[in-house]
Amino acid sequence: MVINDMYIGKGQVVELLLDDGNRHARISCDSNLIPSPGQYLVAGTASQSDHLPVPLFSTESITEGFIACAPVPVGWIPGTEVYIRGPLGRGFSLPQVARKVALVAFDDSPARLRVLMLNALKQGAAVVLICDTSENLLPDDVEIQPLSALGEILTWADYTAFDVTRENLLGLRLIMDGQNQIPINSEAQTLVRMPMPCGGVADCGVCAVSLKSKWKLACKDGPVFNWDEI
Ligand code: FES
Repeated sequence: MVINDMYIGKGQVVELLLDDGNRHARISCDSNLIPSPGQYLVAGTASQSDHLPVPLFSTESITEGFIACAPVPVGWIPGTEVYIRGPLGRGFSLPQVARKVALVAFDDSPARLRVLMLNALKQGAAVVLICDTSENLLPDDVEIQPLSALGEILTWADYTAFDVTRENLLGLRLIMDGQNQIPINSEAQTLVRMPMPCGGVADCGVCAVSLKSKWKLACKDGPVFNWDEI
C-alpha cells in the first residue's frame, strides 16, 4: 500500500486475541486516534500484500490504545506497524438520560457494541444484549436475549443500537416492519457495516447504502444512522 501523508498517525499491533474463532488485535496508538462507539479508523500497512486499507472499530479502550474488532487482516502480527487515519464517521450517541438500553448484534458478535455497553452501564442503565452468538466475556449486569425476543425488548427499551451488515439491512427492515417499529418515545440508531476503503477521501462509492430518502455514503454520512433514516 502506498504510504503518504494522508494518514495522521501510526500504531502498532501489540497482540492478537482469539475470541470464539474471531481474531481481534490490540493496537497501541495515540489516544486521539481511538474511535468512539460506532466510529472507525482506516488502517493499513506498508506491505505489498495489504492492498486496501481496512476500517477498524474498537471493542475496548485500553491503556495506550484500543482493541480492534475482528476481522483484522491475516498478515497482521504482533509488531506490525499500521498507518492510521481517524477517528472517522458518525458514531452512536447514547442519550445521557437512557436507562433501558437494548443492543442488537443482528448478524455477528456484539464486539462493536461493547464500548457502548460499558458506557450505558456506567451511566446506570439496564442493558439487554440481543444476539444469537455465544458470548462469554460479558459484564454480569448484562442480560442476553435471542433475536426472537427483539419485539418484546424494543417495547421496553428507551434507546436501541443495532449492528448489521449492508447485505442484511433489508432483512432487519422486514423484521422491524413486523414489530410495530420503534416506540415513539424511544431512540434507535444503526451501525451499517461494509467495506470503506477510502474513508471518504476519494469518493469511491464502495460504501454507498440506499436509505429511505436517498443513497448515502456510510464512510461520511454514517456508518451510524438514526433508525428513522433507515
Ligand atoms: S469508502 Fe470511499 S466513498 Fe465511502
